[in-house]
Amino acid sequence: MPRKSSVIVVNDVSALAEAALARLADQMAKLEREIAVCLTGGTTPKHMYAMMAQPPWRERIPWGRVHWFMGDDRFVPYNDPLSNCGMAKRQFLDACAPADHIHMIDTDKGSPDGSAADYERILRNHLAQRDGPSLFDVVLLGVGPDGHTASLFPGSSAARETERWVVGVPQAAVAPFVPRVSLTLPCLSLVHEMIFLCAGAEKKAILERVFSGEDLPAARAFASAGETIWMLDLAAVPPNVRSTATDRHPG
Ligand code: 6PG
Repeated sequence: MPRKSSVIVVNDVSALAEAALARLADQMAKLEREIAVCLTGGTTPKHMYAMMAQPPWRERIPWGRVHWFMGDDRFVPYNDPLSNCGMAKRQFLDACAPADHIHMIDTDKGSPDGSAADYERILRNHLAQRDGPSLFDVVLLGVGPDGHTASLFPGSSAARETERWVVGVPQAAVAPFVPRVSLTLPCLSLVHEMIFLCAGAEKKAILERVFSGEDLPAARAFASAGETIWMLDLAAVPPNVRSTATDRHPG
């Protein structure tokens, strides 16, 4: 399938959350079957996740049909402030989603590799229950200052992995410098719609490198069964990006 991608520019981080939620809700509304969403960690999505637990978005999400996964996590307990899974559970999952629809990375295993193997089993079991080749309907991702996405850091074996779906990452290249567990590019690509969420002037430099074609993990991630959407706020737009769709959401 030819790779399809687009750039959507919104005014600011609040508008980014609104636009991403609108896109997520619209995608869910098109589906009558069970839906799989892979969440991203980091700080950018926190506001968006909190909004999911509030009107109007809480009413627009078909919670009984959505299964929630995580693209990567820090190898820390959920109650650690660094935990992506813990953050998503606190922001909306525990309040809104059925407990058996929440499929987080178990970071209580003996090692990142052990957590990775465990989560890969969960993902492969999940795929076995879906029709077609896509594991997810929507994957949310961010971009780090070095061009990483999930916990796939430039030059790392994890970023080069071609077979495994989930890997342990013993050393992070950027803060927080804790071991990680990450889905790999082959796994993340098994999706109908991939949405990158980027906000703030601090993203401009790395996005210029990503959109220049530099071989960075964030530049290599794409939706193999649909569209890769880059959602940027105005402050994050680099000089070499022309938005293919400018939705100036209010806010
Ligand atoms: C993580 C994330 C990571 C994040 C980027 C952007 O575990 O840190 O999964 O890939 O998405 O680093 O983070 P911000 O949204 O905080 O800029």
